[in-house]
Amino acid sequence: MTISFHLNGDRVDLSPEVPPTTTLLDYLREACGLTGTKEGCNEGDCGACTVMVTDPDSDQAVKALNACILFLPQLHGKSVRTVEGMAAPDGTLHPVQQAMVDHHGSQCGFCTPGFIASMVTAHTAGKTDHDTLLAGNLCRCTGYAPIVRAAQAAQEAPVPTWVSDPAPAVDPLDIAPETSDELAAIYAAQPDAMLIGGATDVGLWVTKQLRDLGRVIFLNRCADLKRIEDEGDSLRIGAAVTMAELLPVLEAHHPGYAAMVRRYGSEQVRQTATIGGNIANGSPIGDNPPALIALDATLHLRHGDTRRSIPIEDFFIDYGKQDRAPGEFVEAVSIPKSAPALRCYKLSKRFDQDISAVLGAFNVTIEGGKVSAARIAFGGMAGTPKRAKHVETALIGQPWDGDIAARLAEVWDRDFTPLSDMRASAAYRQEAARNMLQRYWEDSQGRQTNVREVRA
Ligand SMILES: Cc1cc2nc3c(=O)[nH]c(=O)nc-3n(C[C@H](O)[C@H](O)[C@H](O)COP(=O)(O)OP(=O)(O)OC[C@H]3O[C@@H](n4cnc5c(N)ncnc54)[C@H](O)[C@@H]3O)c2cc1C
Ligand code: FES
Ligand code: FES
Repeated sequence: MTISFHLNGDRVDLSPEVPPTTTLLDYLREACGLTGTKEGCNEGDCGACTVMVTDPDSDQAVKALNACILFLPQLHGKSVRTVEGMAAPDGTLHPVQQAMVDHHGSQCGFCTPGFIASMVTAHTAGKTDHDTLLAGNLCRCTGYAPIVRAAQAAQEAPVPTWVSDPAPAVDPLDIAPETSDELAAIYAAQPDAMLIGGATDVGLWVTKQLRDLGRVIFLNRCADLKRIEDEGDSLRIGAAVTMAELLPVLEAHHPGYAAMVRRYGSEQVRQTATIGGNIANGSPIGDNPPALIALDATLHLRHGDTRRSIPIEDFFIDYGKQDRAPGEFVEAVSIPKSAPALRCYKLSKRFDQDISAVLGAFNVTIEGGKVSAARIAFGGMAGTPKRAKHVETALIGQPWDGDIAARLAEVWDRDFTPLSDMRASAAYRQEAARNMLQRYWEDSQGRQTNVREVRA
């Protein structure tokens, strides 16, 4: 098994002895002496380790990724560029680097290589939403204004030829199947193996918990798991589709859901985290499951040649327990193509790059001024993502007016007994859930409810 990729323009072929859970960051710093890429948090939060990856298998051709939670086999067939590879071979700075100098975008400099990697990636991709693209890079001393000014100053400059990386031709990798059929056969034969989607959860088990994952199977080369298929009234989303790949599709079909995914982790996290991983980990605070439950999504599971489909809400049995047999994997999830009433409200301490304290997803149908159908699901309110079934039932037949949330205020206690933890107290969660129904009503009246502006 040889893992092959390009690193700053040169081909790398790694010997089979390299452990498959070696992170790119460790490899760069310890094996290559490329210490420009920094280690800050080692858990995907700070962006100090950001590198640019050219991925021929994705429609998002260049990506800014966190090297600290990226395992080497995830790079097979791709090209990596670190901060050492951003300037021209003759030393001419990349326009983004020159702009950072001109606009005083660096002080202590620890964050700077990560910022440069994010900014060069955005520049190469022609993206200019700098606030969004830099939200996963933490700077503790310069402040963001000079950095954003540098990004803006460089955005019109032509993309230098030296950062365009062709993908290397590679042989198949036995731990990275190329199709779901191959995956099904391998996983059925080795049900104790650890599946790895984007590694935005699994990566931390290695870097923070120092766990030995044993046998691993990577999903990122399964081409058919990376597709989003239009099936008439529904969309079938493959398990290995990343949040970044899903976002434009949701913007077209479910803007209320897209607004939440826009706040999912950071650009670096969205570029790797998969929808299958977010469902399969069964977390009570995963962002997709409440939205998918409110949409009445269907989950497609596969074991060998046997497939089954279940309502996604039935997948989450209890805290840490999902309806998935050994050797069975999430193949896809289907959602209706349209649900104009769907809104998702993510409540977290920061706007970007934060895990939800509470996430409410509302999908309520009004006919003749009264509620005729309701699907409401929450994350952060129980040991699993869970429907507010008592609230839904109480809503049916109610006039849809401004007092509706107040009339149902007592019902929420029958649905949820949330916990207190570092993100929120139980009482706060309960009150926030109640208030979200009010917000949903305000939203339905076309009122502005998304207030981000802070005035001194
Ligand atoms: C900095 C940071 C920010 C984050 N922000 C958010 C956030 O805002 N919202 C949020 O919900 N989460 C967030 N997360 C958590 C994480 O990104 C998600 O849970 C993510 O969707 C996991 O997907 P993955 O592909 O990376 O999964 P992995 O880490 O690869 O896998 C997670 C689990 O799912 C299993 N698995 C993966 N794919 C499959 C499959 N197809 N079938 C069966 N099992 C499978 C794996 O074996 C593992 O048990 C964040 C994580 C980090 C590091
Ligand atoms: S070191 Fe902080 S994101 Fe990688
Ligand atoms: S320049 Fe010091 S952390 Fe950004």
